[in-house]
Amino acid sequence: QAFSLAVIPGDGIGPEVVAEGVKVLKAATANEDATFELTEYKLGAEHWLATGETLPEDTLDKLRGHDAILFGAVGAAPGDTRIPSGIIEREMLLKLRFSLDHFVNLRPSKLFPGVPSPLANPGEVDFVVVREGTEGPYVGNGGALRVGTRHEIATEVSVNTAHGVERVVRDAFRRASARRKKLTLVHKHNVLVHAGHLWRRQVEAVGREFPEVAVDYLHVDAATIFMVTDPARFDVIVTDNLFGDIITDLAAAITGGIGLAASGNINMDRTAPSMFEPVHGSAPDIAGQQKADPTAAILSVALLLEHLGLDAAAARVQDAVEKDIAGRGTEPRTTSDIGDAIASL
Ligand code: NAI
Ligand code: MG
Repeated sequence: QAFSLAVIPGDGIGPEVVAEGVKVLKAATANEDATFELTEYKLGAEHWLATGETLPEDTLDKLRGHDAILFGAVGAAPGDTRIPSGIIEREMLLKLRFSLDHFVNLRPSKLFPGVPSPLANPGEVDFVVVREGTEGPYVGNGGALRVGTRHEIATEVSVNTAHGVERVVRDAFRRASARRKKLTLVHKHNVLVHAGHLWRRQVEAVGREFPEVAVDYLHVDAATIFMVTDPARFDVIVTDNLFGDIITDLAAAITGGIGLAASGNINMDRTAPSMFEPVHGSAPDIAGQQKADPTAAILSVALLLEHLGLDAAAARVQDAVEKDIAGRGTEPRTTSDIGDAIASL
């Protein structure tokens, strides 16, 4: 099988961690009947500064032709005033996710043996958050009036469609059915009644197709409490775009930090390539110093391999990461040291 892979290293530590991801991808598939042709695309804050381009249509068209996308991170240092706030996030990253219909934003959270958690008694933490990726408050359905005056009005209206909610809920049920058979809907339907009830009804309706899955509901504020007091209770969480963004950072924090958190932006209908990326950003504070932990990017490669149907290779990457983590000492290792170690396990 020949796969064509788009690689978007991006800014800051993006290129450093993606290089290790590619290293591990090659090592893990060396004995498979699979070849990868890699095409690199320059996108992100640096690219915008150099060219004024965010995501040109012809680049988007080329990206559509690949089987999958490996993405590093994009974005400038928060204090960098040369780049208008939000331009890279909205016009590049969100445009990619929306254009390629990445409706499942998959974020696994597992506390690997040997990883310290800030929680005193975390228990067996192993859950996945299925975050809706194309709707909610992130669609740009808003505006501002009388900007800069005392009478300024700003809206950011959350969009939830029956189609959009149903498909992500069904994906979450499928994943729960293949795991420990528990699904938790996280929302805030006591206050956000319109969207909340749509989500609730979809979970109820789709749930009838999965009688083996136990369904639970938590308001998002309560979910943050349980994520700290009893994270082992979760198996699959399904939630909207904004809530998912926030609770997955918390999930990353309790399972050893942002350097380990992987994600997939998945088009489960396979009408466009899915994109796999570490949850973290471009970390300008440590960029160019070989200080970044590439594990999140490497675990994202495991998700990519699984999505392409290369389950054995995906499992090899996952195992190698778990072994490497379990054997981590206290001496500092460079980004490429970690990649080398995982690639050789
Ligand atoms: P960040 O995730 O880049 O960094 C937060 C903190 O975590 C920093 O102290 C950083 O050094 C550390 N960190 C992040 N990844 C690490 C790794 N692999 N190993 C070790 N330490 C790591 O978030 P921040 O600082 O809020 O954003 C920096 C830039 O990244 C911004 O321009 C932001 O918009 C962008 N960003 C991009 C994302 C993406 O491309 N998907 C996601 C999040 C932020
Ligand atoms: Mg985030």
